[in-house]
Amino acid sequence: MALLNDTTNLPKALGDGLILRRATPADTATVAALNARILAEENEPPQVFEAWTRDLMSGRHPTNTAADFIVVENTRTAQIVSSACLIPQVWKYEHISFGVGRPELVVTDPAYRRRGLVRAIFEALHALSTAQGHLAQGITGIPWFYRQFGYEYALPLMGMRTLNLSDVPTLKEGETEPFQVRPAAEADIPALLPLYQRQCAGKLVTTHIDEARWRYDLTGHSPNSLAGIRVFCVCDQTGTVIGYFSTGLLPWQGRVTVWEVITAAGVSLRAVLPSVTRALKTQAESFSSSPGGQNVTGLRFALGEAHPFYEAFDAKLGPSQQPYAWYVRVADVPGFVHHIAPILERRLADSVMSGYSGELKMSFYQGGLRLGFERGRLSEAAGWQPPDSDHSWDGAGFPPLVFLQLLFGYRSLSELRYAFPDCWVDEEPALLLNALFPKRVSLVFPLG
Ligand SMILES: CC(C)(COP(=O)(O)OP(=O)(O)OC[C@H]1O[C@@H](n2cnc3c(N)ncnc32)[C@H](O)[C@@H]1OP(=O)(O)O)[C@@H](O)C(=O)NCCC(=O)NCCS
Repeated sequence: MALLNDTTNLPKALGDGLILRRATPADTATVAALNARILAEENEPPQVFEAWTRDLMSGRHPTNTAADFIVVENTRTAQIVSSACLIPQVWKYEHISFGVGRPELVVTDPAYRRRGLVRAIFEALHALSTAQGHLAQGITGIPWFYRQFGYEYALPLMGMRTLNLSDVPTLKEGETEPFQVRPAAEADIPALLPLYQRQCAGKLVTTHIDEARWRYDLTGHSPNSLAGIRVFCVCDQTGTVIGYFSTGLLPWQGRVTVWEVITAAGVSLRAVLPSVTRALKTQAESFSSSPGGQNVTGLRFALGEAHPFYEAFDAKLGPSQQPYAWYVRVADVPGFVHHIAPILERRLADSVMSGYSGELKMSFYQGGLRLGFERGRLSEAAGWQPPDSDHSWDGAGFPPLVFLQLLFGYRSLSELRYAFPDCWVDEEPALLLNALFPKRVSLVFPLG
C-alpha cells in the first residue's frame, strides 16, 4: 500500500483541511453510508449501495479492497465528503486480454460539490489504474460528466426488451416442464465457463470472467448488493446443464432484470425459453408476495441491442430500448494499438490492403497517431503532431477522442464521417482504416 500510495502521490492536501487519500477498512461504514445516502434513487433501497460498498471494501472481493477507494476527508470534522473506487477487471479485444480499471460509486456530499473533489479523485484513480498496468478505464456513468476526464462513449451498454408476466406462456394441460431450472452452485462452474465463452464468441470486446469471479458471483455478494446476480442452470431431462440465465438480485422499477440467457450449441433457444420464462415468472411472483416486497409485473431482458432471445420471442416482447454506452478512456493509444497488433495485422492481411508497407497518419487535432507498416506488419505506433492547416498531407482526421469509437468497433468510419463534419479521410487511408477497424458487436458486463 505504501508503494501504491507513492505512485498515486497520496495522501495529498487539497486545502481547507481536506485531504485526498486511499481508504482503509476503518472507513467502510462511513463510505458505505455516504454512497447509500447520495446514490439511491427514488424508490431504490439505499441498502443496495451500502451492501455493495461493504463487499468491495471487505477483503473478500476477488479484485478489490478498501485501498481501491480514494476518498476526500475533512480532517476538521473527520468526515468523508467525497469518494470513488476503482474496480480492476480484465476485458478482451477478440482473444487479446487487457487490464481495465472501472471507476464506480462516485459521490460528493452536496455541501462540497463543484470544488474539484471528484476531478482530484479521478486523477488519483487513473494513476492507480496505470500503476496496475491497465491499458484502459471504463465507466457506466451519468451523461456527459466523464467526458471532462478524458472519456469517450465507445462501447454499447445494455439495451433491453421487456416481457409482461401475463405474456409468459403457460404449460398446456397434462404437459410437464421439458427443462428444469435450478440455482447454480460452485460445482456448476466447469459447465458455466464454456457457456459464457459461447456467449462471447464473435464479439469484439468482452469481459473476462474467470473461476474466481464465477465463485464470487455465485457465493460472494451480500444478498442485497446492487452488484449481486443470481445464476440459474437450465437442465435437460437427464439433469445435464444445457444453458443458464442470470438475473439481478432485486427487482427494479417493478421488473426483474435478466442479464444473460445462453444455451449450449445444438440446443434450441426457442424450445428452452418457455421453461426459462416460467421460472422467471415464479421468481418475480415471489418478490410480489414477500412481506414488504415490491409488486413485480414484468421481466426486463437487458441482453444488449441484439440477441437471439429477441428473435426467438419477438412477438411477445415490448419495443426495444436503445443501449446506453460505456465511457472508455485510453491514455496511451499507441500502446494500446501495439498491444492488439496481431489482430490488426490479421485484419490487414484479410483485406484489399494485404501486405501494405507505408504509414497511416491520423490527426486528433490536439495531437495524433502515426502507424507504420512493413509488408503487412505493424512496425510503429506513435504519437504524432499534425502540421498546421496550411500544409497538406494524406491521412484522416478525428475530433479529440472520437477515434476511440473506431478503435473499439463501436461506430464505422462512414458513421463517424456522417456524425462529425470534422472527421475526414483520404482515399487510401480510408481503405486501411476500414480494414483495421471494422464495426463489431461487443458485450461488456460491468463487474462490480
Ligand atoms: C457528479 C458529482 C459526483 C460531481 O462531484 P463534484 O465533486 O462536484 O465534481 P467536481 O467539482 O470535481 O467537478 C468536476 C468538473 O465537473 C463540473 N461539474 C460538477 N458537477 C457537474 C454536473 N452535475 N454537471 C456538469 N458538470 C459538473 C465541475 O464544475 C468541474 O468542472 P471544472 O473542473 O471545469 O471546474 C456530484 O455532483 C454527485 O455526487 N452527484 C450525485 C451522485 C452522482 O450522480 N454520481 C455519479 C454517478 S455516475
